[in-house]
Amino acid sequence: MLARMTGMRLERLRADHADAVLAFERANREYFARSVPDRGDAYFAGFAARHAALLAEQDAGTCHFHLVLDGSGALLGRVNLVDVEHGEAELGYRIGERAAGRGVATAAVLEVCRLAAAGYGLSALTARTTSDNAASMAVLRRTGFTVLGETVIGDRPGVRYRRGLTG
Ligand SMILES: CC(C)(COP(=O)(O)OP(=O)(O)OC[C@H]1O[C@@H](n2cnc3c(N)ncnc32)[C@H](O)[C@@H]1OP(=O)(O)O)[C@@H](O)C(=O)NCCC(=O)NCCS
Repeated sequence: MLARMTGMRLERLRADHADAVLAFERANREYFARSVPDRGDAYFAGFAARHAALLAEQDAGTCHFHLVLDGSGALLGRVNLVDVEHGEAELGYRIGERAAGRGVATAAVLEVCRLAAAGYGLSALTARTTSDNAASMAVLRRTGFTVLGETVIGDRPGVRYRRGLTG
C-alpha cells in the first residue's frame, strides 16, 4: 500500500501556501468535523492573520508545519509538529477526503518522523487521539507509536501515544 504513495512529499509551510490551505480546509470542513472539533467560522474569517501567526511560530522554532503533496503538487493533507520543547514535539495530521484510505497519513507520519530526527534534531514525538478515531489509531499503531495511557480530549475519552526517533 505504501508503494502507491511513492510520489507523496512534505513541504514546509510557507506564506504562499495560504490560498491552497484555505481551500483545503474549506473543502474538507464537514469531513474533518466528523472526527475532530470543527475549526469554527472565526478560523475561516481570520485565516490570513492565523496563517501569518503560524509562520511566526514556525520561525521561532516552536512548531514545524508541513503540507502533504502528491506527485503533481496537489494538496492532500497536513502534518504538523507543535509545542517543540526539550527535544520532543506533539504530532498532528489531517488528510483530505479525496485521498482517504490510501495510506497517505501513514506515509506522511513516517516521513515527518524521519524529518523530525534528521532535520529538526528531535528525539521523540507524542500524539493524542480520541478513542473513537479508529483510522487515526491505526495510523499511529502502524508508524511505531506506543500507547502511553488514557486522556480526555475536549469532553471525549482519548489515548496518548509516544514514539522515540533514535535509530
Ligand atoms: C485519520 C486520518 C488522518 C487517516 O488518514 P488516511 O490517509 O486515510 O490514513 P491511512 O490510509 O494511512 O490509514 C488509515 C487506516 O485506518 C483504517 N481505517 C480507516 N477508517 C477506519 C474506520 N472507520 N475504522 C477502522 N479503521 C479505519 C484504514 O483501513 C487504514 O488502515 P489499513 O490500511 O490497515 O486498512 C484521516 O482520516 C483524517 O484526516 N481524519 C480527520 C482528521 C483526524 O482525525 N486527524 C487525526 C486527529 S488525532
